[in-house]
Amino acid sequence: MKMRRRNFLNNIPFAISAIAAGDQLSFSKDEKKHHARKKLALTVAHITDVHIRPELNIPQRFTQCLEEIKKKKVDFFLNGGDTIHAADYGDITRERVLEQWKAWDECVQQLKGYEVHSCIGNHDPWWAAPSKDDKMYGVPYVVQRAGMPNRYYSFTKENWHFIVLDGNNKSISLDQEQMEWLKKELENTPSGTYVLLMSHYPILTVTGSWEGGQHKDHVALRQLFYQHKDKVRVCLSGHQHLLDRAWYNGVDYFCNGAMSGFWWDKGDAKSARPSYYQETPPGYAILKLYEDGSVENEYFIHKY
Ligand SMILES: [Fe+2]
Ligand SMILES: [Fe+2]
Repeated sequence: MKMRRRNFLNNIPFAISAIAAGDQLSFSKDEKKHHARKKLALTVAHITDVHIRPELNIPQRFTQCLEEIKKKKVDFFLNGGDTIHAADYGDITRERVLEQWKAWDECVQQLKGYEVHSCIGNHDPWWAAPSKDDKMYGVPYVVQRAGMPNRYYSFTKENWHFIVLDGNNKSISLDQEQMEWLKKELENTPSGTYVLLMSHYPILTVTGSWEGGQHKDHVALRQLFYQHKDKVRVCLSGHQHLLDRAWYNGVDYFCNGAMSGFWWDKGDAKSARPSYYQETPPGYAILKLYEDGSVENEYFIHKY
């Protein structure tokens, strides 16, 4: 159906426009006023693509970011994966994997008293282990080091249900077992409880037009979310290292850039500014989740 542009914009209460304000990308004033009347359920930090390693003073820089986030009075952290710089390449040694996880452990010491719920990124598993029986081989070791209950899992806080997915299968998609589990999770979520899903790879994405990494099963997921459109409200992702925002059928899809920006390094010819990946600065998102199912997502640029 054709809709005149003006009517179309008037019919969306939460216009999907982010504006640059100082060092943050935020909602417009009108949107903030609208949210001010609603009851806040949770404030959550979404960090993704931390890519931690011992070089370039990265642990110290990341620790400063965590201190900055703590000042924002968050209830807990969601960590979108690519937690360590890279364990997945063919030449990565055991020592290299261990020193990256050690850096992670040391940094998250700062988060004592906070829950950190992590997701597995493509760079986290070590495939070059001498054998598949090695205790550090592949996904189970990441689950253990990141303190996850399983490679995919869920939990509930207030009237929000959080679902963490593992898309690290051959074609960036959910395996059948996980898809069946997800269907049951959504069916079993009571009405009046809203759903936030976190994946490493974006399910729906604007930047997927020029960067790979979108979930290949996005049609099945989109159809599933539509069946539960009274509950599913927001999907978070990373992987692209690009900040983008899509909206479809009442679901916001926030791909929240990367804590590491250009992997904590200077950038390249395509970086709009030093340390940016293309036009996206290094940063993290703070989400406000409201009791009525509405969501606010702000991306903060970090200076470290
Ligand atoms: Fe990444
Ligand atoms: Fe990734």
